[in-house]
Amino acid sequence: MIRYELITRERYIAVADFLVNDFFVNEPFGLALGLTLDQVRRWFADFLSHILDTSDPVSYVALDSNKDDKIVGAIINLIADPEKEGPRSMKTFLDPDKEPIKIQIATFLEDLEDGLDIYAAMGQPSSSKIHACLFLSVADGYGGQGIAKELVANGERAAKAITGVTIAMTDVTSAYSYKVYLKLGYKMIKEVEYMSYQGHDGVYIFKGESILENQHIL
Ligand SMILES: CC(C)(COP(=O)(O)OP(=O)(O)OC[C@H]1O[C@@H](n2cnc3c(N)ncnc32)[C@H](O)[C@@H]1OP(=O)(O)O)[C@@H](O)C(=O)NCCC(=O)NCCS
Repeated sequence: MIRYELITRERYIAVADFLVNDFFVNEPFGLALGLTLDQVRRWFADFLSHILDTSDPVSYVALDSNKDDKIVGAIINLIADPEKEGPRSMKTFLDPDKEPIKIQIATFLEDLEDGLDIYAAMGQPSSSKIHACLFLSVADGYGGQGIAKELVANGERAAKAITGVTIAMTDVTSAYSYKVYLKLGYKMIKEVEYMSYQGHDGVYIFKGESILENQHIL
């Protein structure tokens, strides 16, 4: 049986370990750019702990109770409050010499939200708090059973109980996660075609990466 639990401090390391070995080996655009785990392991647990400590508790794990509560899924969300200083950006955890591809990815994700007025797009006041998903991952062998949908739904329930949260948002990089969010009623407000994206040095970083041909980030 799969059960869902809020991520508490005792699980930070185990969740970081799960995401390093699951999310980063399966997520499509990291794979396409040739991201290797040695560009993730050094900083990821610190970054994750920082996010989880900074935000209201809205992140969940899926546990398989038939397998000693093994972690088989995780969603990392945060509540962005315009009245409060947000968490440090991922980039501040990265070393450009050691983690150049991860820097490219972080830059791409920043560019994605550049110039986007999420409050206007959602018709909400700029004082609204935003429930944002950063990572969503389900273990190999557990896909297609609705675990991702349940993880998202658990996070949303927790977020809705927090005063002032009126927006939920995410960037999706996988066709499956796109389906998950559409089915839960999310609307696409911005779409970027990978092949048309130019990095700050003018290079089309995704060109030639056949895994991403015809895919978009939303
Ligand atoms: C994206 C991800 C979290 C989806 O998890 P999941 O638990 O399989 O999702 P769900 O079971 O809720 O299914 C979502 C949809 O994708 C489909 N799907 C999931 N895995 C599938 C597979 N291997 N083949 C075909 N369809 C699949 C499901 O059938 C479902 O569609 P439906 O509602 O039309 O039936 C998981 O594939 C994953 O961890 N991928 C690697 C990391 C990643 O890319 N994360 C998202 C980055 S934004």
